[in-house]
Amino acid sequence: MKSSASPLLSPLLPSPVSSPAPLISFIDLQPDVGRFLDDVLAGLAASPKALSPKYFYDARGSELFEAICELPEYYPTRTELALMRDQAAEMAAQIGEGGLLIEFGSGASIKTEVLLHTLRPVAYVPIEIAAEALQASTTRLAAEFPQLPIIAVCADYMQPLRLPQLALIKASRRVIYFPGSTIGNLTPAEAQAFLVRALELAGPGGAMLIGVDLKKDPELLHAAYNDAQGVTAEFNLNLLRRMNRELAADFDLDRFRHVAFYNAAAGRIEMHLESLCEQTVTVSGRSFVFGAGERMHTENSCKYSVAEFQRLAQAAGFRPEQVWVDAASLFSVHLLCA
Ligand code: AVJ
Repeated sequence: MKSSASPLLSPLLPSPVSSPAPLISFIDLQPDVGRFLDDVLAGLAASPKALSPKYFYDARGSELFEAICELPEYYPTRTELALMRDQAAEMAAQIGEGGLLIEFGSGASIKTEVLLHTLRPVAYVPIEIAAEALQASTTRLAAEFPQLPIIAVCADYMQPLRLPQLALIKASRRVIYFPGSTIGNLTPAEAQAFLVRALELAGPGGAMLIGVDLKKDPELLHAAYNDAQGVTAEFNLNLLRRMNRELAADFDLDRFRHVAFYNAAAGRIEMHLESLCEQTVTVSGRSFVFGAGERMHTENSCKYSVAEFQRLAQAAGFRPEQVWVDAASLFSVHLLCA
């Protein structure tokens, strides 16, 4: 076991804000958020230019994403939430009570609320990189479930996690919840490697409940990422605003446009920021040239058929146990067993 001086294994830290109940503890694994500049400089020097979608979510970006979830064209959020509401009892019956519920990227934890009511876990472990969002959702859930021990972990769940503290919790099994089709941001190869690590965390007898967006009519997909109100365009362009503000960059937002399309061969929506003219931009004193029409790749959102995702899960070592799909076959929630 590492010493508590390790950045990967901090002792239980009291909340900087007042804890509403004694059943809450916080673990700060100090996610490496200082890499933004390095990643941007590397991404702008690369060919083609690219930047990780994790940088969308500053305060404004998180707000814009919440607005996207309400858009008439953006079907995933409401479809998955309805699926959870309709099937939560069945999901809980399959999973069984008394588990340790671990959530990746808990954000606002809206879908989790539905699950907590039926699943009745012995404890809930939300893992979220955004400290403020983690605080807010933990406080809200603690008020709604005063008997539920919550161990909030501030960490980047995309990186390998060391959580020896969880071994102290007696539970029937570990259940990892990963809603929202966030796994779609990873390529299939990256997703498989990620599932291998999740399987390790779940341990023997563990399970994973994961939301995955389905392949469908490309026109529906196109509309979901090119909404009429332009909120998705704002969300994409906000990356430029964020770099201007945080990295002393000088992107002119009128000289870039949002591009999103379905790449059928790769089975994914791609988002890009396209330069409208030849131009030079500066980021923290470093210059980068964009040709007219040159794009910076900002997001992949991979879509899977049920069979494709089950094959991926199997390749990672999971056994697909059950899958729930809405009536229009827009979205899937898979139960995978270790
Ligand atoms: C949060 C990654 C699931 O891919 O649909 C929404 C992000 N990007 N609109 C998605 C997103 C553009 C979303 N995920």
